[in-house]
Amino acid sequence: MYQSKIAGVGKYVPENVVTNNDLAEMMDTNDAWIQERTGIKERRHIKDGDGNSTAIMGVKAAKIALERAKVKKDDIDLIVFATLSPDYYFPGCGVQVQEMLDIKTCPALDVRNQCSGFIYGLSTADQFIKTGMYKNILVIGSENHSGGLDFTTRGRSVSVIFGDGAGAVVLTRSDNKEQGILSTHLHSEGKHALELSLKGPSTEHWVPEIIAENPQGDDIPYYPYMNGQFVFKNAVVRFSEVIMEGLKANNLEVKDIDMLIPHQANLRISQFIQQKFKLSNEQVYNNIQKYGNTTAASIPIALCEAWENDKIKAGDKVVLAAFGSGFTWASAVISW
Ligand SMILES: CC(C)(COP(=O)(O)OP(=O)(O)OC[C@H]1O[C@@H](n2cnc3c(N)ncnc32)[C@H](O)[C@@H]1OP(=O)(O)O)[C@@H](O)C(=O)NCCC(=O)NCCS
Repeated sequence: MYQSKIAGVGKYVPENVVTNNDLAEMMDTNDAWIQERTGIKERRHIKDGDGNSTAIMGVKAAKIALERAKVKKDDIDLIVFATLSPDYYFPGCGVQVQEMLDIKTCPALDVRNQCSGFIYGLSTADQFIKTGMYKNILVIGSENHSGGLDFTTRGRSVSVIFGDGAGAVVLTRSDNKEQGILSTHLHSEGKHALELSLKGPSTEHWVPEIIAENPQGDDIPYYPYMNGQFVFKNAVVRFSEVIMEGLKANNLEVKDIDMLIPHQANLRISQFIQQKFKLSNEQVYNNIQKYGNTTAASIPIALCEAWENDKIKAGDKVVLAAFGSGFTWASAVISW
């Protein structure tokens, strides 16, 4: 059995900053409501003509991760791409990355586990390295949410939360058994699938049907739906469970966590977990205030930013944890 470690991290967010006050010009909302309920002050949105897309932002983050990992593009054995907002219905973004990075015909795998997508992707990559099949894997999380949200008052409870951006890591084979991905833990509970969902366009809800069913444009199933309070209640329970599961699997305790990087769903969720586990501010990294919820990109963006700010050092125990649509939830325990 081989060991895998994160050799490089990268992130990219579009330059265009959208504040809560900017949103208040488009819909009936306000800065106080958004900050109080979510902690978000601003987020980034792709702007028409800035040349970005989900795949392109993923490539920008990946290039930084590759450079930091000192891994050449042609040494990448697999691309894993997590997103809920791909450029195309099909094919997935992974093949676009292979083409844009001009990598020889390596495999490319797309992961559709929304807010848990990055950890699902990391776990998949980890298994390929641990079995010895691959040596270097690019894992990307990227989202273009702003391209698919309802920015009228009808969509305000969802659209104020989400932002655009990308993060990436290069996972490589390592000889040091003490360092790297110690374990990953994945879960799903599909009975709650529609509590946080986007129904169409899909084979169940194709475009002409959607238009025929919604002549007034009400209850449009091609905008996301979120049962906010239900999601919140489930999130705090599952985050706690999956963090404890990861610690237990490695004979660790809460006090051993050097850095917890929760998926940036809502600052209130992160704060609830922090208080429940009695973690200090130094033990938890949050940046939702600046970027909103970037779904599959939120953990690699936060991981990258924490690393760039010297908040993660060699040997630190880093715990990643996520919860989201599906419902799915997941954690990863890393010795940095
Ligand atoms: C979405 C969320 C912030 C909403 O907060 P909430 O306290 O549950 O608010 P509610 O949905 O009950 O709405 C309260 C009121 O605010 C209004 N409201 C909703 N969005 C608003 C907005 N952007 N601006 C102003 N008012 C808003 C509602 O219409 C409602 O008004 P009413 O009382 O007159 O009916 C919260 O439920 C949440 O964060 N849930 C978890 C979401 C999450 O983490 N998702 C990602 C998972 S990966």
